[in-house]
Amino acid sequence: VAPHALGRHLAIAGFMGAGKTTTGARVAERLGRPFVDLDTEIERRTGTTVAATFAENGEAAFRAIEEQVASDLLLRAKPHVLALGGGAVLSQATRAELSQRAFTVLLDVEPDVAWERARGAGRPLAVDEKSFHSLYAARSPLYEEAADARARDDDGVVLAAAGVYVHVGVLDLLGEHVPDDGAIELVADTHVAGIHGMEAQLALGGRRIQVHEVPAGESAKTSTQLERLWRAFGIGRDGIVVALGGGCTTDLAGFAAATWKRGVRWIAVPTSLVGQVDAAIGGKTAIDIPGGKNLVGAFHWPTRVVSDPALLETLPEREQRNGLAEVVKTGLLAGEPLWELSEPELVRRCAAYKAAVCLADPHELGARAQLNLGHTFAHALEAAAGYGLPHGEAVALGLVAALRLSGNAAAVDVVEHVLRPRPVRVDRERAWAALARDKKAVRGVRKLVLLDEPGRPRWGVEVPEGDVRAALESLIA
Ligand SMILES: NC(=O)c1ccc[n+]([C@@H]2O[C@H](COP(=O)([O-])OP(=O)(O)OC[C@H]3O[C@@H](n4cnc5c(N)ncnc54)[C@H](O)[C@@H]3O)[C@@H](O)[C@H]2O)c1
Repeated sequence: VAPHALGRHLAIAGFMGAGKTTTGARVAERLGRPFVDLDTEIERRTGTTVAATFAENGEAAFRAIEEQVASDLLLRAKPHVLALGGGAVLSQATRAELSQRAFTVLLDVEPDVAWERARGAGRPLAVDEKSFHSLYAARSPLYEEAADARARDDDGVVLAAAGVYVHVGVLDLLGEHVPDDGAIELVADTHVAGIHGMEAQLALGGRRIQVHEVPAGESAKTSTQLERLWRAFGIGRDGIVVALGGGCTTDLAGFAAATWKRGVRWIAVPTSLVGQVDAAIGGKTAIDIPGGKNLVGAFHWPTRVVSDPALLETLPEREQRNGLAEVVKTGLLAGEPLWELSEPELVRRCAAYKAAVCLADPHELGARAQLNLGHTFAHALEAAAGYGLPHGEAVALGLVAALRLSGNAAAVDVVEHVLRPRPVRVDRERAWAALARDKKAVRGVRKLVLLDEPGRPRWGVEVPEGDVRAALESLIA
């Protein structure tokens, strides 16, 4: 079973009226993938409508064409988003090809809603309400069989495609999200292990487990801690690393998984807001070395991210604020006030935004750069403060600088209102030197992310050095 759609087709299955075509097209746009609708492709090839093929040649003939076209589409090498026809999964051959070449998401819809949408649209199987409902009941088990995951909306499809599960209470179902029956190495932040570790272990059930506690916070992300894990790990290549904790734990454990036996699967169970909306998603893993933060790492996509917003109830206020800064950043990038939503919903929406960007650009060669909005300044201030400045405060200030350079006063107001950043006391020269060393500079030219307006980020922008320096200095008390 495919755990996610990275490097594979994303197929959207579901009953008539589920919205497969509209959702599929929008998701394809977000993932930067070509979109193809099976029925439209059939109509293009046959030169007539689906209804006409049904009427003239009968359902069996239509299904044969559908099976052939689905097979051709699934053989395309480049990962697509493919909206399947409502009956495509009736074919055993198509179900088999889907499981080999695609990650299939079932787009859920209530039968009454489906009927309201599908009736009167000239669909051959949506003529009579009673038979429509019996068809729904008859097909449901086939959808279940073909689907790797289920979703109700665009964000749900994106999250499923990235292997990310966000649900209140999902920690109790952790065992169901760890594939196969290979042995598990559980890596947990020692502080978090004391609060949620037992629940996680119980949820993992009777599988062979070793538990490794690592220090809370950035001190987990060291070569010493990494080596400790390497020395203690006993899993083979079929084993799996489960990381329970904030971004520091998932960064360390993910990198340990990326390097152990040249790469084993791993599952992130983020417990901090930063982890749930940012760090656990997208496959970047790393440790710090004296030369800088995150300098040694790997892209290693987690098999699953199992994110339970209920765990945030025990998160200290300080850590909550660190996460809120990333939530505001994400909301500005998405062009929606995501910070106003309830916590479970804002986690879901922010996670989906990041998941889509990272699926579109898993190795950070393009669009993923937008996620650095405000971070060039934030990193400079953190370095100048000797890492004594909370990350959330640094990001809030960094956002102010980037938004001022973007000429976006309304967005600056939002950040000031929601995050209330205050200028910091750091050495100006140290901050400037740190910014000049920024590792994201390309051949010495510093490229910034600006926000033309909420929802419209622009990355790789060269900004005159004097303006960058003035923006940085405006953050310093
Ligand atoms: N890989 C990525 O894409 C990515 C993205 C963003 C940040 N990061 C990294 O993430 C790290 C920061 O992550 P973080 O802010 O989660 O830090 P963290 O892992 O240090 O967690 C913050 C603190 O909160 C505590 N904590 C976590 N969950 C808790 C809970 N449910 N209840 C009580 N306490 C809890 C931890 O013990 C820790 O003290 C940085 O090292 C950063 O580089 C990585």
